Amino acid sequence: MVPAVKICVEAVSKTFGTKDAVTALAGVDLAVNAGEFVSIVGPSGCGKSTLLYMLGGFLPPSGGKLLVDGNAVRKPGVDRGIVFQEYALFPWLTVYENIAYGLRMLKRPPEQIKATVQRYIDVIGLAGFEQRFPRELSGGMKQRVALARTFVYEPEILLLDEPFGALDAQTREIMQDELLRLWQSSRMTVLMVTHDVNEAVYLSDRVCVMSKRPGRIVEEFKVVLDRKPGREALVLSEAYTSIRNAVWLSVRHQVL
Ligand SMILES: Nc1ncnc2c1ncn2[C@@H]1O[C@H](COP(=O)(O)OP(=O)(O)OP(=O)(O)O)[C@@H](O)[C@H]1O
Ligand SMILES: [Mg+2]
Repeated sequence: MVPAVKICVEAVSKTFGTKDAVTALAGVDLAVNAGEFVSIVGPSGCGKSTLLYMLGGFLPPSGGKLLVDGNAVRKPGVDRGIVFQEYALFPWLTVYENIAYGLRMLKRPPEQIKATVQRYIDVIGLAGFEQRFPRELSGGMKQRVALARTFVYEPEILLLDEPFGALDAQTREIMQDELLRLWQSSRMTVLMVTHDVNEAVYLSDRVCVMSKRPGRIVEEFKVVLDRKPGREALVLSEAYTSIRNAVWLSVRHQVL
């Protein structure tokens, strides 16, 4: 059976401004199958966030096509949950209400909202902070709320922009494993931008490497790993280290 293409990016380019124009992306081609987990790695400023904003429907492309389920992306939608690089919480809502927001929009029953939000507050380790506002939180705490706010309503597509960048090593592993668990149970389609090659290989089915600006996808690595034995065994395995090294070399080649 041929898997269904969920996200299709065809020859997409993006130029900002008219005079002193900056071409962020030029000729990006990418297809992500339904249920697939794909990561994008590449040099800073190569247009990774720009690509996610366009797929989120927040920014139009200058050229090319962005399709979700075969339809052109025109505006944001509940089918696509996005976690921004700079968290983007609602400053006027508490931690609890920020996380509950998507479920309220989807008109889920109050009891279900309460139970799901509480479960996520425990997962992100913020019990006791339910009634705090974003301005009262550290960067890492805000990032955890942003992740919970998007994970909680299980959108068909997750667009993640360096979602774990502000977290300490331990919390990052907890949140990565939570993402893996969620993805395995819901089979949502995930497109994640990260600087962390280990993270990309640990989580993804496929890792795409982008060139320097103007960015396009220059190399792809299929990641076939048996994740059942758990993190420790996996990161020590030869299969893992060899893919990790190959991706790392490719990224290094683009950066230098
Ligand atoms: N709104 C904007 N107006 C003008 N230029 C922009 C705008 N947004 C992004 N750019 C430019 O487009 C290029 C790509 O930016 P983008 O944020 O997508 O990069 P990135 O790959 O996400 O970088 P990083 O890894 O540092 O997050 C950069 O040169 C940036 O300066
Ligand atoms: Mg970025």
